[in-house]
Amino acid sequence: MSSVAERNGAPRDGALKYLVYTSTASREMRPEDFESILRTARERNRRVGITGVLLFRDDCFIQFLEGPPAEIDALLDDIAGDDRHERLRVLLTETTTERSFADWRMGFGTPRSTRSTGTDGVRDSFIDLTAGEDEGVVRQAAEDFSIWFKVRERSARV
Ligand SMILES: Cc1cc2nc3c(=O)[nH]c(=O)nc-3n(C[C@H](O)[C@H](O)[C@H](O)COP(=O)(O)O)c2cc1C
Repeated sequence: MSSVAERNGAPRDGALKYLVYTSTASREMRPEDFESILRTARERNRRVGITGVLLFRDDCFIQFLEGPPAEIDALLDDIAGDDRHERLRVLLTETTTERSFADWRMGFGTPRSTRSTGTDGVRDSFIDLTAGEDEGVVRQAAEDFSIWFKVRERSARV
């Protein structure tokens, strides 16, 4: 499994919360574990207007979530209590009016490269991102992942 996305139209909305976190898998993740997470995530995210992307590599998750602030807060509480992962660290929270992942109820990818900066200068690793890091660095990394994910999806569809 390398990249799966679900495309959906996103509702138009006002102020949105954009949140990025990293975490570490608490046990070995099998394909069915991802399927289970994504099934639950897509169902709930559709219901509450959340979009985003989940990436997994080297036992680490990074997730980009965007949606109504109260729904993001409630979801983060649930995700933080999920025993399939641990050491959850919120890297970035922002208020925005535009979605970066409007088409994805929860896109999913497993970047393979171990370089932290791809040959085209686009970041494809997140293991070195830490909470408390300069916001600009995290924001740039989030942008890079967003581009990485969209390029992957586009080439997968050709
Ligand atoms: C790495 C990771 C990412 C997750 N992302 C989401 C998500 O985007 N949306 C979601 O509803 N659940 C997500 N979950 C699952 C939640 O932790 C939780 O199991 C789910 O919201 C079901 O909660 P409920 O049974 O109380 O409705 C994720 C779990 C993990 C381990």
